[in-house]
Amino acid sequence: MRILVTGGSGYIGSHTTVQLVAAGHEVVIADDFSRSKRSVLGRLSELCGAPVECHAIDLTDREATRQLFEQGSFEAVMHFAGLKAVGESVAMPLEYYANNLGLTLSVLAAMRAAGVTRLVFSSSATVYGENASVPMRENMSTSATNPYGWTKVMQEQVLRDLALAAPDLRIALLRYFNPVGAHPSGLIGEDPHGVPNNLMPLLAQIAVGQRDHLSLFGRDYPTPDGTARRDYLHVEDLAAGHIAALNVLGSREEAVSVWNLGTGMPTSVLELVAAFAEASGRVIPTVDAPRRPGDIADSYADPSKAQTELGWKAARTIQDMCADTWRWQSQNPTGYPDE
Ligand code: NAD
Ligand code: UD1
Repeated sequence: MRILVTGGSGYIGSHTTVQLVAAGHEVVIADDFSRSKRSVLGRLSELCGAPVECHAIDLTDREATRQLFEQGSFEAVMHFAGLKAVGESVAMPLEYYANNLGLTLSVLAAMRAAGVTRLVFSSSATVYGENASVPMRENMSTSATNPYGWTKVMQEQVLRDLALAAPDLRIALLRYFNPVGAHPSGLIGEDPHGVPNNLMPLLAQIAVGQRDHLSLFGRDYPTPDGTARRDYLHVEDLAAGHIAALNVLGSREEAVSVWNLGTGMPTSVLELVAAFAEASGRVIPTVDAPRRPGDIADSYADPSKAQTELGWKAARTIQDMCADTWRWQSQNPTGYPDE
């Protein structure tokens, strides 16, 4: 298939691009490089064996997006583009709503105009809100605690409403748990924009000597070691989940299908710190700190729906996630080169 990958130079989009090309698909990337670097493209050429077509456009620009689709002959869209930093979204809510909702409305309008019917959308476990019980299941109600999370809840709603009006659409809402890790080559990985919010890139930067310690946000959670637990999954497994979803979309009866992508296994902050220290051979100094506002004790998936309906199961271990993150970070201590 000829597939438009929005946000394809970002962390998850770049890994998925490599797997799509390996599976025989033709990929076209659209990204405004507001949160990624152009030097990703050279790495993608190396991994894909040929340059990947890329259009530098702001997808909130409706006319540019319409033209891209008019000329693109796309058969499906994998829609990763968006802003994703929770703290930044609290400080800049208007920018988050305008960008994340605006680009999705623009992509959907262009898809309708061009007759493209298949869409795989990057949603998040954040839509389960702060009161969900674990393991989290797709039929639970959704809510959010911050503007970023609300943009995901709202985009899901927009997609459901559109599917009611346009029943030829086939949409996958993929709710990712905590994507970490990197391509095993160490050529592509997560290169956070500014100071990372998330645990794994912080561990990687501490191990490589860019930061001196980790603040442990809360030691008094009702978990076995008192630190909060998350469902970390390898970005290569996550990318494979997208291909599995794309493969079944055409034969789905329902217009909108929701799948959790996670391992179903919780790992605590202290367990991840220990696993990363082991993988990197470096000491990770920690300092106790108060809980982070909005954090929950436990978040992990019930991944059985994806297993049954997609034949997909996360295969890589926490050790693989740490080893691959460390390979990427030690080969690229400051991330991708500036273009
Ligand atoms: P990322 O920031 O690495 O990639 C997103 C890409 O979108 C970036 O390359 C950025 O430049 C691009 N972009 C943003 N606004 C744009 C615009 N107006 N026009 C064109 N391009 C634009 O993020 P990621 O980690 O690869 O996440 C991909 C998707 O998955 C996002 O929608 C994110 O919300 C979602 N998600 C990520 C995580 C995670 O932990 N990484 C978890 C759950 C969901
Ligand atoms: C964060 C986002 C969530 C998003 C998810 C995946 C918040 C409030 N939530 O959640 O919306 O879907 O990432 O991208 O930001 N930790 C520390 N010290 C640190 C950083 C993190 O102890 O310096 C702890 C956190 O308290 C948490 C765990 O590590 O218990 C994982 O944190 P993080 O990687 O930010 O993921 P989430 O909390 O799941």
